[in-house]
Amino acid sequence: MVAQMKSLREQLANCQLPAEQAFSIPPECYTSEELLQEELEKVFQHNWIGLGRADRFAVSGDYETMNLGGKPVIVLRDHDGILRAFANTCRHRGARLLNDDGNCKHIRCPFHAWTYKLDGSLSGAPHMNKVSGFERSDYGLISYHAEERLGFAFVCLAPSAPDLDDYLGDFAEIHAPWPIESLVTTRRRSLTVDCNWKAFLDVFNEYYHLPFVHPDSLDEIYNFPTPADKVTGAFASQFGNTEGTGGLLQDSEEQPLPSMTNLQGRAASGVQYTWVFPNMTFAAGMDVLWIYEAYPLGADCCQVYQSICVPPETAALPDFEKKIAAYYQRFDAGIEEDIPALVNQQRGLASSDARQGRFQPHLEANVASFARWYADQWLRQS
Ligand code: FES
Ligand SMILES: [Fe+2]
Repeated sequence: MVAQMKSLREQLANCQLPAEQAFSIPPECYTSEELLQEELEKVFQHNWIGLGRADRFAVSGDYETMNLGGKPVIVLRDHDGILRAFANTCRHRGARLLNDDGNCKHIRCPFHAWTYKLDGSLSGAPHMNKVSGFERSDYGLISYHAEERLGFAFVCLAPSAPDLDDYLGDFAEIHAPWPIESLVTTRRRSLTVDCNWKAFLDVFNEYYHLPFVHPDSLDEIYNFPTPADKVTGAFASQFGNTEGTGGLLQDSEEQPLPSMTNLQGRAASGVQYTWVFPNMTFAAGMDVLWIYEAYPLGADCCQVYQSICVPPETAALPDFEKKIAAYYQRFDAGIEEDIPALVNQQRGLASSDARQGRFQPHLEANVASFARWYADQWLRQS
């Protein structure tokens, strides 16, 4: 086992080389349930996790339950409009407090009715007032860090979280050409994909597969991308010029939505692909923003959420529903072509003879950047 771990460390070190020399993430990181447990700790429990758009927590009491880094979590907007995240476990005897999503005025445990305010403080505990040494203020919900930037929600499970602005570095600057913060979500859908969560994010971020996986649907849209941006945060970003909008199928480009206002320079003529490490990625087009979050369900299965966002003035157009339908069709068609490729990749990665490969450094620039960051998480903390 020790020899095996050393070899894993050596393999991971090969991911830290510049993209031209770097190797891909070791196959067992895509297939081993044992390594997934370590990954949850090293990658998901120590870093900020992007949850997609914050506008689904629109009003106070809007909540969603989720599994983050192996922990059941409640994310909600409190009475003061602050986004919060709590452990989904009662401070009495541990019952799960909420399920699914919805809106609540407070959180009431279904077991013995301990009740918590939306800020996590314990406001009611039946028959506990005479219990010696019991102070309600000692039994608030366990809370995690939750913040919003540019309209995205982020949660960090670590007791002392890295400063989110340090974590994101020049994220706001790189995305300044797009009015990202004010965009509204017009569709969010979930799907389960039989591949490792990293593989899902990998394929969204590389141009290499386009002619082979999307020859008749998307390939003609994309020109050769520009070199990846040099960034200072825990993300990777690469711009690619497109024929027309990148948000429509190559055969249905004639009815685009209007461009976002005031797009300057290259932003007006292509798509910026960004991967916010570890698990959120998006494409900022001239007219729409499309986002994927991927969460591990197992080593070989992930939960994926797709969100589509547009400027509010676009969503208000009389023919918006008609026009956006063609975009939804394009995003669904793209993913329907990616999924069989991903399932097939997962099958191949499961071979005990699968080995680390090399990147095409220009067409897989974001993937190589993620591999480097991912290796850093393993090697820094172990
Ligand atoms: S476990 Fe929640 S009130 Fe008892
Ligand atoms: Fe694809």
